[in-house]
Amino acid sequence: MICIGIESTAHTFGAAIVDGESRKVLSNVIKAFTTEEGGMVPSKVADHHVDVCQEAVSEALGKAGVKPGQVDLVAFSQGPGIGHCLRIGAGVARSLSLVLKKPLVGVNHCIAHLEICRFLTPAKDPVLLYASGANTQVIAFESGKYRVFGETLDIGIGNFLDSFARALNLGFPGGPKIEKLAKDGKKLVKLPYSVKGMDVSLGGISTNLKTKIKSGEYSKEDLCFSVQETAFAMLVEVAERAMAHTGKSELVLGGGVACNKRLQEMCTMMCEARGAKVFFLENQFYVDNAAMIAVTGIEMFRAGQSTPVEKSEVRPSERTDDVSVTWR
Ligand code: ATP
Ligand code: FE2
Repeated sequence: MICIGIESTAHTFGAAIVDGESRKVLSNVIKAFTTEEGGMVPSKVADHHVDVCQEAVSEALGKAGVKPGQVDLVAFSQGPGIGHCLRIGAGVARSLSLVLKKPLVGVNHCIAHLEICRFLTPAKDPVLLYASGANTQVIAFESGKYRVFGETLDIGIGNFLDSFARALNLGFPGGPKIEKLAKDGKKLVKLPYSVKGMDVSLGGISTNLKTKIKSGEYSKEDLCFSVQETAFAMLVEVAERAMAHTGKSELVLGGGVACNKRLQEMCTMMCEARGAKVFFLENQFYVDNAAMIAVTGIEMFRAGQSTPVEKSEVRPSERTDDVSVTWR
């Protein structure tokens, strides 16, 4: 089964082709809206998606060597995300479904971050640490649904890193720049550490950092190093607590921040210490991408699910546990 996936929850418009039989991602085209300063005006991002959507779809088909007539299924991210952006992807997906006369299936973006890990790695029933710009959540399958075991109580880890990087004049996106500078950090600066059960809070550490930057007493390198050590330790702690709580012994990652090698290293150490396994993916499958949407669409469709065009309205605030999971 050949599925075309469409992603457009936020700044990225993605189109991808996945072969369900060979379990291969044949193409994964990512067109990200970028600005120097960061920040997004929803209508501007939606305009970007309109500009690139046709090219993204053609490129995905071309790179995969698949003709439109060979597509069996159309999957798209139905939510959660920014309404303006979601509507562009949904429109493209509906058109493809109607023109190609192939079924449509609406996919939950957060669940897709976990499903692509199950599709591309040996992980069977993992806990997902989803660490992106806007989202910081620990998700796992339990009692018939995907559930959020823990999350940020205020800002997402990526937005937190970007805002810290902006205060240091490092530019946007901040995560990769912080990672680079952190390698030359030597001293661990004490920062507030805020874990509440399986939730984390990053607002306090953000304010504290801004005061420390103003004081001029600390080097950029030491601050970047300390931010990573402290904030990532919080994420790893809540992921471990969810693993202990659910009795699961596999960990996977998702979201742009998952590209960070120090975070990956800390996850590996935690899993080794508890006799669990951790599986990593290529970065193209951590950032928002359409391959994960196609993969999830295939699983859902095989379990008998599809989304008639008239029921394909976008769901900007869909919750992970709203989704009925028939494919597991
Ligand atoms: P969401 O998926 O919640 O809508 P998003 O689309 O903003 O959020 P992603 O595209 O998954 O998120 O990730 C973007 C974030 O990842 C940015 O905040 C960026 O700074 C961060 N990031 C990217 N690479 C790294 C890295 N190497 N280390 C740390 N953070 C990183
Ligand atoms: Fe995402």
